[in-house]
Amino acid sequence: MNIKSYWKSVASIQDISPDTGTLRVVIDDEAICLYNLNGTICATQDKCPHGNANLSDGYLENGTIECPLHQGVFDIATGKPISPPVTTYIKVYEVKLEDQEILIHVESK
Ligand code: FES
Repeated sequence: MNIKSYWKSVASIQDISPDTGTLRVVIDDEAICLYNLNGTICATQDKCPHGNANLSDGYLENGTIECPLHQGVFDIATGKPISPPVTTYIKVYEVKLEDQEILIHVESK
Protein backbone atom coordinates (compact mmCIF):
# COMPACT_ATOMS: atom_id res chain seq x y z
CA MET A 1 0.00 0.00 0.00
CA ASN A 2 1.25 3.44 -0.87
CA ILE A 3 1.00 5.90 2.01
CA LYS A 4 1.62 9.56 1.26
CA SER A 5 2.28 12.02 4.00
CA TYR A 6 2.20 15.76 3.62
CA TRP A 7 1.47 19.02 5.41
CA LYS A 8 -1.98 20.43 4.86
CA SER A 9 -3.20 23.91 5.68
CA VAL A 10 -6.36 23.57 7.78
CA ALA A 11 -7.14 26.93 9.39
CA SER A 12 -5.63 30.10 10.70
CA ILE A 13 -4.98 30.75 14.38
CA GLN A 14 -7.76 33.35 14.46
CA ASP A 15 -10.30 30.66 13.46
CA ILE A 16 -9.91 28.97 16.86
CA SER A 17 -12.53 30.39 19.17
CA PRO A 18 -10.99 32.40 22.00
CA ASP A 19 -13.95 31.33 24.16
CA THR A 20 -13.54 27.56 23.83
CA GLY A 21 -9.92 27.35 22.60
CA THR A 22 -10.98 24.63 20.15
CA LEU A 23 -11.91 24.28 16.49
CA ARG A 24 -13.26 21.24 14.62
CA VAL A 25 -11.96 20.74 11.08
CA VAL A 26 -12.54 17.82 8.71
CA ILE A 27 -9.62 16.75 6.51
CA ASP A 28 -10.03 13.88 4.07
CA ASP A 29 -13.00 12.55 6.10
CA GLU A 30 -11.00 12.74 9.36
CA ALA A 31 -12.45 15.01 12.03
CA ILE A 32 -9.66 16.82 13.85
CA CYS A 33 -9.80 19.12 16.87
CA LEU A 34 -7.41 22.06 16.93
CA TYR A 35 -6.50 23.62 20.27
CA ASN A 36 -4.95 26.95 21.17
CA LEU A 37 -3.09 26.38 24.44
CA ASN A 38 -2.01 29.92 25.26
CA GLY A 39 -0.48 30.36 21.82
CA THR A 40 0.71 26.75 21.34
CA ILE A 41 -1.37 25.05 18.68
CA CYS A 42 -2.07 21.31 19.04
CA ALA A 43 -4.30 18.85 17.21
CA THR A 44 -5.96 15.52 18.06
CA GLN A 45 -8.71 13.39 16.63
CA ASP A 46 -12.04 15.07 17.37
CA LYS A 47 -14.15 12.00 18.11
CA CYS A 48 -13.96 10.66 21.63
CA PRO A 49 -13.13 6.92 21.46
CA HIS A 50 -15.55 6.20 24.33
CA GLY A 51 -18.69 7.29 22.51
CA ASN A 52 -20.06 9.61 19.94
CA ALA A 53 -18.96 13.00 21.23
CA ASN A 54 -16.82 15.70 19.69
CA LEU A 55 -13.90 16.75 21.84
CA SER A 56 -14.10 20.18 20.21
CA ASP A 57 -17.33 20.63 22.22
CA GLY A 58 -15.50 19.75 25.43
CA TYR A 59 -13.77 21.77 28.10
CA LEU A 60 -10.16 22.81 27.79
CA GLU A 61 -8.14 23.14 30.99
CA ASN A 62 -4.40 23.11 31.69
CA GLY A 63 -3.46 21.23 28.52
CA THR A 64 -6.26 18.71 28.85
CA ILE A 65 -9.61 18.28 27.13
CA GLU A 66 -12.66 16.99 28.98
CA CYS A 67 -15.20 15.16 26.86
CA PRO A 68 -18.61 16.85 27.03
CA LEU A 69 -20.55 13.57 27.21
CA HIS A 70 -19.13 11.53 30.13
CA GLN A 71 -16.31 13.84 31.29
CA GLY A 72 -13.42 11.56 30.29
CA VAL A 73 -10.18 13.60 30.16
CA PHE A 74 -7.24 13.39 27.74
CA ASP A 75 -3.82 15.01 27.75
CA ILE A 76 -3.75 16.99 24.52
CA ALA A 77 0.00 16.85 23.85
CA THR A 78 0.27 13.07 24.18
CA GLY A 79 -3.31 11.85 23.65
CA LYS A 80 -3.09 9.91 26.92
CA PRO A 81 -6.37 9.12 28.71
CA ILE A 82 -6.05 10.54 32.22
CA SER A 83 -9.50 10.31 33.75
CA PRO A 84 -12.22 7.63 33.43
CA PRO A 85 -14.25 6.45 31.66
CA VAL A 86 -11.76 6.87 28.78
CA THR A 87 -9.02 4.24 28.58
CA THR A 88 -7.53 4.51 25.09
CA TYR A 89 -5.17 7.09 23.63
CA ILE A 90 -6.47 9.53 21.05
CA LYS A 91 -4.52 10.26 17.88
CA VAL A 92 -2.27 13.30 18.06
CA TYR A 93 -1.26 15.15 14.90
CA GLU A 94 1.97 17.01 14.24
CA VAL A 95 1.29 20.71 13.81
CA LYS A 96 3.38 23.53 12.39
CA LEU A 97 2.69 27.19 11.84
CA GLU A 98 3.48 29.29 8.83
CA ASP A 99 2.81 32.81 9.95
CA GLN A 100 -0.82 32.60 11.20
CA GLU A 101 -1.64 29.50 9.15
CA ILE A 102 -1.99 26.09 10.88
CA LEU A 103 -0.65 23.07 9.01
CA ILE A 104 -1.29 19.48 10.02
CA HIS A 105 0.84 16.47 9.06
CA VAL A 106 -1.53 13.98 7.49
CA GLU A 107 -1.18 10.60 5.84
CA SER A 108 -3.34 9.34 3.03
CA LYS A 109 -3.48 5.93 1.35
S1 FES B 1 -18.11 9.87 24.88
FE1 FES B 1 -16.33 10.83 25.68
S2 FES B 1 -16.19 10.08 27.71
FE2 FES B 1 -17.93 9.04 26.89
